[in-house]
Order: sequence, then structure tokens, then C-alpha cells
Amino acid sequence: MLKTSIHGAWSSRAMFVLATVGAAVGLGNIWRFPYLTGEYGGSAFILVYLICLFFIGMPIMMAEIMLGRRGRQSPANTMYTLAIEAGRSSHWKYLGWMGMIAGLLILSYYSVIAGEVMAYIFRAASGAFTHQTSSGIRSIYSDFVSSPENLLAWHTIFIVVTMIVVARGVHEGLEKTLRIVTPLFFILLLILVGYGMQSKGFSEAVTFLFRPDFQKLIYVVNDSGVRELTAKPILVAMGHSFFTLSLGMGAIMAYGAYLGREVSISHATLAVVVMDTLVALLAGLAIFPIVFSNQLDPASGPGLIFQTLPIAFGGMAGGVFFGSLFFILLFLAAWSSAIALVEPTVAWMVESRRVTRVKATVWIGIIVWLLGIASIFSATGTTLRDILLIFMHGLDLDTIGLRQKFFSQTFFEVVDFATTNIMLPLGGMLMAIFVGWVMHRESVRAEINVRHGDLCTLWMSILKYVSPLAVLIIFLSAVGLLGNV
Ligand code: PHE
Repeated sequence: MLKTSIHGAWSSRAMFVLATVGAAVGLGNIWRFPYLTGEYGGSAFILVYLICLFFIGMPIMMAEIMLGRRGRQSPANTMYTLAIEAGRSSHWKYLGWMGMIAGLLILSYYSVIAGEVMAYIFRAASGAFTHQTSSGIRSIYSDFVSSPENLLAWHTIFIVVTMIVVARGVHEGLEKTLRIVTPLFFILLLILVGYGMQSKGFSEAVTFLFRPDFQKLIYVVNDSGVRELTAKPILVAMGHSFFTLSLGMGAIMAYGAYLGREVSISHATLAVVVMDTLVALLAGLAIFPIVFSNQLDPASGPGLIFQTLPIAFGGMAGGVFFGSLFFILLFLAAWSSAIALVEPTVAWMVESRRVTRVKATVWIGIIVWLLGIASIFSATGTTLRDILLIFMHGLDLDTIGLRQKFFSQTFFEVVDFATTNIMLPLGGMLMAIFVGWVMHRESVRAEINVRHGDLCTLWMSILKYVSPLAVLIIFLSAVGLLGNV
């Protein structure tokens, strides 16, 4: 086994935790978690998400870090090396490949949202939110997203700044920035929660977030107003627990590859999961009081944070300052996550294609930038059907099935669903199976380095049976019960 990775190593355990928290905490916590919670009815959704986070996500995160540290290469090559070490098929490398593809697809829309965040730094700084009503704030948002050239410009800027950091190697820029950003981010979130606590919607928000209503978890009301059984909220909660921890696609494996042998993987993992959960819950506590005080719709989708938080900034003393600072921090959080989304692919290109880090980053930047254009049109409401129509002009739509529900979704919706709810849990499940069933016990024990033998056995049994089965059951029930929801 390699002693160190050719890409470098973290300077300390604290740095690894900080970088992994940086990868984990991002738009997933502040943008995605609140809007999903709103869409899927609140507390029961949160409960399932927390269960998945601690019982499925955490053990898999330990496994993913362990795999990286043992393989010391990009995920595809790590999987290849470890499979050969265990005397198994080299096809396991495709697990790394699936992760790389998922990472680039996620980044293609992540960058569009991060671009919106960057634009909002300037909106906030210019005082655009001051004393605005909630409908004023909403129209600022809808004006913004209905202009593709605006979105494209910000998407381009975000891709460029991300690629600059990745091209230089993660350590220098990232280590220094994260040291300041992470604590500052917490403080600002607490200020926003403080604002929420004074608003009249606070108790309603707490009930919405923390008093479980299981009906909302298993039923949906369909278009004709009839209640139907569904497994979608559970699938989405599981998918989000993978997304928010950056799990199942190799980012954590890549970061694990740069980790020293002496570091305790279990402690580091616990720290990351707790921090990530805290940020998400604080974001919920900051956003939902504003939703309820202003009679906004909790289920208003991906635009939720852009339509709520500016109301708080517009109404509070020092709102221009706090508002700009908040969006700056959110941008930095998105930035540190975006870096983790491309690191596996860049590392792979450097190892296997023998190109320089800079060249690898440029290529990947171009691919992600192009993919992102499809997400930009999603923000303006363009569906898959509209896109296909451009290419298939003149064909009879009904005969080729273009009227199906699938085609009425946007590119963003389809890619987000396929990557987060399918590819990431599938990737995580295969990693659990690999560690539980494929690797030799002794290699796993030697690498994971857990001092209590019992804990290690428990963890291995979870990976062997609980995590794969849980993911499988959720997948199967989703296939059976998703129906036409
Ligand atoms: N965890 C990040 C977030 O919550 C997103 C991410 C997913 C980053 C997968 C890297 C890999 O925003």
C-alpha cells in the first residue's frame, strides 16, 4: 500500500476535519435542506433524515474515509487497487467512475445556485432588501432567475473561482480560508436564529420542524386531490443524508486519501456529522419563522432561501452588513463543497491520464460549465420536453411519449433526483458491501484503527447487513410506491 498520496496530505487531523466539514456544509444545509423540509412536510421528514444520517450515513462515511486512506489514490484507482488486494474483480473501479460522474452532474447545477448566492451578495450590499415586503423580495428573486444571461454570468464566475482553487491544489487556499469561515458561519446563523425567535412565526416553525406528523411521510395528495401512499419522502430524506455529508460519490474517499495514518477516523467522522447536522437545523430555525410570519408557502421549492432570508435582512438593524456577510459565507461554504465535487475526477486525470493538475481542471471546468447551461434553462422553467422539441421539431409528440410526466420535469429536477436519490445511496451501499463483504477483515481492522474491538465489530456488522439492506429496502419501496407521484 502507498504511504502517502501523490497529491499531498493534510497538515493535521484538525485540517482534515475542517476540510471535510467544508465539503459537507454547503448549499445542502442552507438551501436544499430547508426547501425539502418545506416540500415534504417538516418534522417527520427531518426525523427520517436524522435516522439515515446517523445510522446509515455515519458508518458509511467511516468506510469511505477508510477506503481512501488505504488506497491513497483517486476513488476509481483506489477501488481498483483494493479490489485487487482482496483478490476480487477489478470492475469495482466502476464504483469510482459512477462517483465521478455524479460529482460533475451535481456540480453543474450546484454552481448555478452558488452563482445566485454570489449575485445576492451584491443585492444585499446595495440595500435592495431594506424595508421590502415579502412580495417585493419575491419579485426581486423571480426577476433574477428569469434572466438566463445573468445566471450564466454568475455560473461562469463560480466555475472559474472553483477551478482556480482546485488547480492550485486544495491545501494552501482552502486550509486558511476554512479556519475563519466555519466559525463565522455559525455565529451568523445564530444571529439569524435570534431574529427568528423574536418573530411571531417562531413557535409555528418549531412545531413544523420538530413535532412529527407521520401522515405527511407516507401519503401525498395527487393532482386530483386524492391521498396516495408514497415512499418518495423517505427516499428523498435518505438521498439528502448522503448529499449533505458528500457521501457515496468519492469526495470523502479522495479526502481520506490525504489523511495521516495516526488519525482516528471515527472521531473525525462524528465531528463532521454533528457539525453538519447543527448547521442544517440552525438554518431551518432561521428560515421557517420567516416563512410563517409572512404567510409564505413552505413548499415553494428551490427559491425558498432567496425569498425568506432577505426579508430578515431587510427588516433588521445592520441588515445590509449582515446580509452581505451571510451570502459571502454561504458562497464560501458552497465553494469548499464544489471543490470536493471535482477533486476525485481531477485526481483521477492526474493519475491515469498523466496530465497536469491545471490541464485536468480546465477540461473538467469546461464540461461542467456546459452541463450547467441546461440547469440555467431549468431555472427559467424550460422542461425536458421543451428541450427535446427543439431537436425533434415536427415529430408527432404523442407517439414518442413526450407527454409523459418524466418529460414535464426540468433538467435540474431529473439530474438532482438521479444523482442524489439514486447514485449517491447506491454508491454508499456498494462501499458498505465492499468493506463488509469483499475486503479482508484484517485489512479493514488495521486501517480503521478503532481502539475498542467491540465498536469495530458493531461497525462492521452495520456495514455488512444494516446499511445495504436499509438502502435496498428504501429503493425497492420507492420503486413500488412511487407510482406516478
Ligand atoms: N455536501 C455538500 C452540501 O451539502 C454537497 C456535496 C455533495 C459536496 C457531494 C460534495 C460531494 O452542500
